Amino acid sequence: MTNENENHSKDEQPDRRQFIKGASCVIGAAIGAVPMAAGVRVVLSPLVDKEAAEGGAMIRLGDLGDLETGVPMKFAIVADKSDKWTRYKDVPVGAVYLVKQKEGTENPVVAFNTVCPHLGCFVDYRKEKQDFFCPCHDSNFALNGKLKNGVSPRGMDTLTVELRNTTEVWVKFQRFKANSKNKIAIS
Ligand code: FES
Repeated sequence: MTNENENHSKDEQPDRRQFIKGASCVIGAAIGAVPMAAGVRVVLSPLVDKEAAEGGAMIRLGDLGDLETGVPMKFAIVADKSDKWTRYKDVPVGAVYLVKQKEGTENPVVAFNTVCPHLGCFVDYRKEKQDFFCPCHDSNFALNGKLKNGVSPRGMDTLTVELRNTTEVWVKFQRFKANSKNKIAIS
């Protein structure tokens, strides 16, 4: 009887050992997955935020019918942003001027980032002078974005525009390197 029990118990041991080993692996993997998942989130979340807030996503700004030919209209760009602790809704992240072109023009709407390519001040539209003007160091630009006078190293930065469903104006919002002769996208 005793021998039989002992034999039975010996036969079960490898199974039990295997079960314990398997269980340890599962528990170890589960514990290991926690920091790994946290690491992935830390790495990915700035990219996701960056794309949502800044990074080149197409944004619908309005309708062709909202714009007057030759008159710049300013549109604020807002987006949700979040840091480690808080999520902020509808934070202003920039602005765009849309200028509707004359009928028959190849690009019916031209878009400019409102940031001055010199050192990043905001450029104003001056109705009375029919130009764009940067008050920080007195650069001014024609309504087609070309530099007229001043220290800016280039004209205003144009943005990609798409007309969808015939009249919807969509713009790819991007930022560009300041104080560089070349237009280099940084977001
Ligand atoms: S920041 Fe606009 S001219 Fe200097």
